[in-house]
Amino acid sequence: MSKQILVLPGDGIGPEIIAEAVKVLQAASEKYDLKVELEYDELGGAAYDKYGTPLADETLERARRADAVLLGAVGGPKWDTIDPALRPERGLLKIRSQLELFANLRPALLYPQLAEASTLKPEVVAGLDILIVRELTGGIYFGQPRERRVLDNGERQAYDTLPYSESEIRRIAVVGFDLARLRNRKVCSVDKANVLASSQLWREVVEEVAKDYPDVELSHMYVDNAAMQLVRAPKQFDVIITDNMFGDILSDQASMLTGSIGMLPSASLNQRNQGMYEPSHGSAPDIAGQGIANPLATILSASMMLRYTFSEAAAADAIEQAVSRVLDQGLRTGDIMAAGCQKVSTAEMGDAVVAALKNL
Ligand code: NAD
Ligand code: IPM
Ligand code: MN
Repeated sequence: MSKQILVLPGDGIGPEIIAEAVKVLQAASEKYDLKVELEYDELGGAAYDKYGTPLADETLERARRADAVLLGAVGGPKWDTIDPALRPERGLLKIRSQLELFANLRPALLYPQLAEASTLKPEVVAGLDILIVRELTGGIYFGQPRERRVLDNGERQAYDTLPYSESEIRRIAVVGFDLARLRNRKVCSVDKANVLASSQLWREVVEEVAKDYPDVELSHMYVDNAAMQLVRAPKQFDVIITDNMFGDILSDQASMLTGSIGMLPSASLNQRNQGMYEPSHGSAPDIAGQGIANPLATILSASMMLRYTFSEAAAADAIEQAVSRVLDQGLRTGDIMAAGCQKVSTAEMGDAVVAALKNL
């Protein structure tokens, strides 16, 4: 049966990087005889411009029917001043929430060829392989009430709410522990339990889940310390489980350990292993339209799609190997450029991955 993929290029560099990931996905499908059917639609600012809303109902229905969604990125200055309820980012949050994509896997893996591209010393990052498991459909991103109001004294005030229920914590912890079993059997749960009630419950429930995984070593860390440890000694981590906002911040930070935010893919999964796959970075308005964005995070997200939703490990491995070959050849987009390497455009990078894949 053919695999149905909904492609949502989005805004900014989204369409540029998605074009390359689609090329690679099609090449992998040919090589491994997979039947994929792609359907295209809009999300974010592009959807607002076309449909007047950042996520149209029909688009959401298409996403529900699809086996997987491949997303570029959303947002940009053009839509920063519109009604906050219609901002591009709200479309992204809605699709995550509606598809119940609560488990966001963000692997920070250093390709050895890029050890010099990180801003940290090569010996600090060499061999780095961290998996951040970010809770994606709860916490402060979705908590109610949230409000902006004017107080009696005329002052403006705004607040958000950070709720977590034990079932939400338990299911993301289970994902983290299960994945740790396939890796180095270490889980670090990151929270702010010295201050936040939601974090105190988080820690309690994670402890309970850990009882079912006596073979996995659990540690807890406050998020401020975790931010520091990630740059001091990042290789101490194997799997990090954390809430929605802490995971957002720490994953951008971890991306620089791998050389560039342009290298960090992501998978957002629900209980049915249906998934949305997107780079961890944004729409990069500062470089959009120039053909210079790094497409590898998106290409690697397509590889995660083959691995997690379609269980096509060989095809997924092949894409990762092809990326590695291209880095061996010294091809680099600007963000990972180094002395002695050859600077290539977004499309040249995609073409090189396709060529390497065919020649594997
Ligand atoms: P960003 O990730 O878009 O960009 C941060 C910096 O990283 C920029 O200098 C950018 O040029 C660079 N960068 C990002 N991706 C790159 C790539 N593939 N290759 C080379 N360089 C790359 O973050 P931002 O500037 O804070 O946000 C821009 C817009 O993107 C905002 O509207 C934000 O809300 C949105 N955003 C969307 C997503 C998403 O769709 N998942 C994620 C993050 C931010
Ligand atoms: C990400 C982004 C999103 C988030 C924004 C655009 C809503 O930063 O995917 O990391 O905060 O989750
Ligand atoms: Mn982010």
